[in-house]
Amino acid sequence: METDFLVIGSGIAGLTYALKTANHFKDKKVVLITKTQADETNTKYAQGGIAGVWDEENDSFEKHIEDTLIAGDGLCNKNIVEIVVKEGPERIREIIEYGARFDKDASGEYSLGKEGGHSENRILHHKDVTGKEMERALLEELQQHKNIELVNHCYVVDLITQHHLGYLVTKSTQDITCFGVYVLNLRTNKIEKILSPVTLLATGGCGQAYRTTTNPRIATGDGVSMVYRAKGKIENMEFIQFHPTALFEPGVSPSFLITEAVRGDGGILRTKEGEAFMERYDPRKDLAPRDIVARAIDSEMKKAGTEHVYLDCRHMDNEKFIHHFPNIYEKCLSIGIDVMTQMIPVAPAAHYSCGGIKTDEWARTSIRNLYACGECASTGLHGANRLASNSLLEAMVFAHRAFLDIVAKAEETADPFSLSFNGEGPLKEKVPDWNARGTSDPKEMILITQSQKELQQIMSDYVGIVRNDVRLQRASKRLDLLHEETEMLYQATKVSPQLCELRNLITVGYLIVKGAQFRKESRGLHFNTDHPEKSGLLQNIIL
Ligand code: FAD
Ligand code: SIN
Repeated sequence: METDFLVIGSGIAGLTYALKTANHFKDKKVVLITKTQADETNTKYAQGGIAGVWDEENDSFEKHIEDTLIAGDGLCNKNIVEIVVKEGPERIREIIEYGARFDKDASGEYSLGKEGGHSENRILHHKDVTGKEMERALLEELQQHKNIELVNHCYVVDLITQHHLGYLVTKSTQDITCFGVYVLNLRTNKIEKILSPVTLLATGGCGQAYRTTTNPRIATGDGVSMVYRAKGKIENMEFIQFHPTALFEPGVSPSFLITEAVRGDGGILRTKEGEAFMERYDPRKDLAPRDIVARAIDSEMKKAGTEHVYLDCRHMDNEKFIHHFPNIYEKCLSIGIDVMTQMIPVAPAAHYSCGGIKTDEWARTSIRNLYACGECASTGLHGANRLASNSLLEAMVFAHRAFLDIVAKAEETADPFSLSFNGEGPLKEKVPDWNARGTSDPKEMILITQSQKELQQIMSDYVGIVRNDVRLQRASKRLDLLHEETEMLYQATKVSPQLCELRNLITVGYLIVKGAQFRKESRGLHFNTDHPEKSGLLQNIIL
């Protein structure tokens, strides 16, 4: 297949970009690929909402910028923070125009929630299912565009670059160029190539690298891993954000989130004895940034030898709670917890990857003709710790910027979107078909599923909220073995999504561990008890 624009991922980032591109280039074709159903994304599960300066009387860009910088603990790129905060409200207006509904108060104004690290109320939300509502609006809008072809159940295996034309590509190659992707069509079970002069990765997060995560099954770090294999730049992977309050429900995966907005509305974290412990850790108490709250909970759990703490909502207004958080209320009731009379057992869970594919202010990666935005990208917004509800905003801002960049290219160059490299003839003929010679059907899926469990165990036990040098070294050694075994399997077995995801998760695990080993300090989400202070050197770790 050949297309003018290729988009991998149907979450907020991929959909926003696809819509804008299709709308502007009406005579061009946009192919949008997703590995399962279109709406099975991290986006769909977003609860709390989207941050934006809306209340001009009490809030300001300066305050939102300051809050983001404080959460990021010295590593945010200030220019990028300003771009996102200042352009964010316009992007929110656009999605409202597409039909996304955000809750309003009795006076008809948007009801603005508050979450950890925010100095003002600035979170627009749709009850406690904001992401689902945004995803719905975007997918409905997509149907209006005949030049977008949505291809579900298609698993992208690898990027195509000049490596596939026989050129040597290393980390120091200056002009690595992307021509499209190899995909496993899950309907035919065949690997096909899709060529495109412009590709955007919007493949989301990698929470599945951990045993306990709020992320759905699709979040396996595929985009990051593909770019790393193609010798592109990956940044700051050590900053994995653990959400402080996932519902403690042993054996259930992914973990159900109890949005931070519950604490924003007055929920209080307590030990099993009922002590409100956050005041011992931070003056902002339950609304301190996430890294601080998650570490405090981790410390309380370790002290008490328990697997969870409690979130107390019993004092909150019954009617208001059910109105704002109907989904949480119902979920808790379904497992026998009436939040109005009982405390909710909660524990931290891997939630968000602050690092990822290194991009510039136009969402360009280090690989030519390849853009990335959304959770798979590292734009410089989050630094060492993401401020709550900034990621939906970031995804829309950079989807728009990637779109603007291709519009600018189209205006500047006579033939901006031709598929070519180094004077090579039609790439359609030059890019080889996938080579599956010597591989056979997998004999035992357990080899894959068991390795994934091992990986999650290693990452959770040794590379979690609190790290140290010995644990990181152990993780590194064990990942080496898993890597070796999985590569052998990959060489001998027909490609399947499960095998590719395992391979990608191992790569992501390796990048997290390497980043954590290089960062000989504690900053933001990375806390190493052997290096508990911040070093004076402010640097991003690029692998
Ligand atoms: P996603 O929405 O995750 O979409 C990824 C897409 O990529 C999917 O379509 C998937 O099929 C596709 N894909 C991936 N790999 C492949 C492959 N190999 N081949 C083909 N397709 C592929 N953020 C906020 O700002 N506010 C919140 O309130 C909030 N709440 C959250 C609650 C939960 C429970 C979770 C998990 C996250 C929350 N976040 C929140 C974070 C936010 O939802 C995500 O960061 C954001 O939605 C990511 O969007 P995305 O478009 O980058 O990726
Ligand atoms: C939440 O609702 O607590 C999640 C918000 C986020 O991850 O930004």
